[in-house]
Amino acid sequence: MTIGICNDHAGVAYKFRLVKYLESQGYQVVNFGTDTEVSVDYPDFAHALASAVEKGEVDLGIALCGTGNGMAITLNKHQGVRAGLAWASEIGRLVKAHNNANVLVLPARFISWQMARRIVNTWLTTPFEGGRHQRRIDKMPV
Ligand code: RB5
Repeated sequence: MTIGICNDHAGVAYKFRLVKYLESQGYQVVNFGTDTEVSVDYPDFAHALASAVEKGEVDLGIALCGTGNGMAITLNKHQGVRAGLAWASEIGRLVKAHNNANVLVLPARFISWQMARRIVNTWLTTPFEGGRHQRRIDKMPV
């Protein structure tokens, strides 16, 4: 499975740790940057990841910024993206089981590294439940 990952300056440290961790677990990771702590604009990176998800160039995506909200708001402008913000592992589970999020968004300035890794693991290993949740997802597009 190929996972695309993007971040702004607030998410760069966790991004590098996640790339290393995911690769150690056998995932292929595509890095959409940024790779330094120099201040950048999160939409530049969110749009690059979202396009890759929509084109099927990556199977899933992970995005990190300070609060997660800038990334989530931008990513969700793309019709083919369901980006969900998670700050606890139970939310990571529900955002896949109920919302079938194809991009997980993490608030890097508000969670520990251990929590970030736990959320990612939970989200990756949880199956979508379908059924009534699929019906609700079908009603999302505008
Ligand atoms: C950057 O300072 C910060 O605004 C950004 O990482 C994010 O939290 C925006 O939503």
